[in-house]
Amino acid sequence: MEDIVLEAKGISRTYEGKVPVKALKKCDLSFRKGEFTAIIGKSGSGKSTLLRILATLDLPSEGELYIGGEKVNGMKDSALAALRRRKVGFIYQDYNLFPEYTAYENIIMPIHLDGRREDPEKITELMEKLNIAGCKDKFPGEMSGGEQQRTSIARALATNPAVVLADEPTGNLDVENAGEVAQLLRLASEVYNQTIVMVTHDSQMAEYADRILKISDGCVEKVLS
Ligand SMILES: Nc1ncnc2c1ncn2[C@@H]1O[C@H](COP(=O)(O)OP(=O)(O)OP(=O)(O)O)[C@@H](O)[C@H]1O
Ligand SMILES: [Mg+2]
Repeated sequence: MEDIVLEAKGISRTYEGKVPVKALKKCDLSFRKGEFTAIIGKSGSGKSTLLRILATLDLPSEGELYIGGEKVNGMKDSALAALRRRKVGFIYQDYNLFPEYTAYENIIMPIHLDGRREDPEKITELMEKLNIAGCKDKFPGEMSGGEQQRTSIARALATNPAVVLADEPTGNLDVENAGEVAQLLRLASEVYNQTIVMVTHDSQMAEYADRILKISDGCVEKVLS
């Protein structure tokens, strides 16, 4: 299909151990440019396992993954790290900001790690859109949970990645801030044509997405689109 920026074909993941856990079972998924997808499912159903594989932070036991048309399987570690830096943005439940850096410094960090310089005007515009312009020189410890999460969204968007993946990004926020974060992800998909995949157990948050996929016992089923 056209405009597919992220595709998983027959992805399985088994955690080996005394009793092996089949966390994902032959999942087929594709994500279009600019599409906002929510993934819902019970605790232990395999949501985080799937998201980590989509982010190339973990490898599938079987199956293939393509990001921006590039096949991830079999890539060397260095090539994979570069692909991840350039094409994947990740948003964590607990924000994962560096406490000794300001909001602005946190946001530009992935750009600098990739050996490039940021466009200050673009970063300022992004911070305005995300309603954190006033946090520019603040450290994470001086910011509210909502502000920290909006900063981590800015960091994920700053590199203009093929896909932004978020694991329970609203999990630590109250209803009002959670709604704002989900709305901003929706805005990013509309304004920046950003592909977004959000894991959530909150069906209200899932309503902000273009489509909802449900995962149960390691298998993905479509709920609505
Ligand atoms: N590192 C690991 N080693 C062994 N088993 C694991 C590991 N990580 C996850 N699992 C198991 O794989 C299954 C899927 O876990 P996963 O974390 O993907 O679920 P989840 O849907 O994200 O759950 P939650 O909503 O609680 O975050 C669970 O049975 C879990 O116990
Ligand atoms: Mg999880």
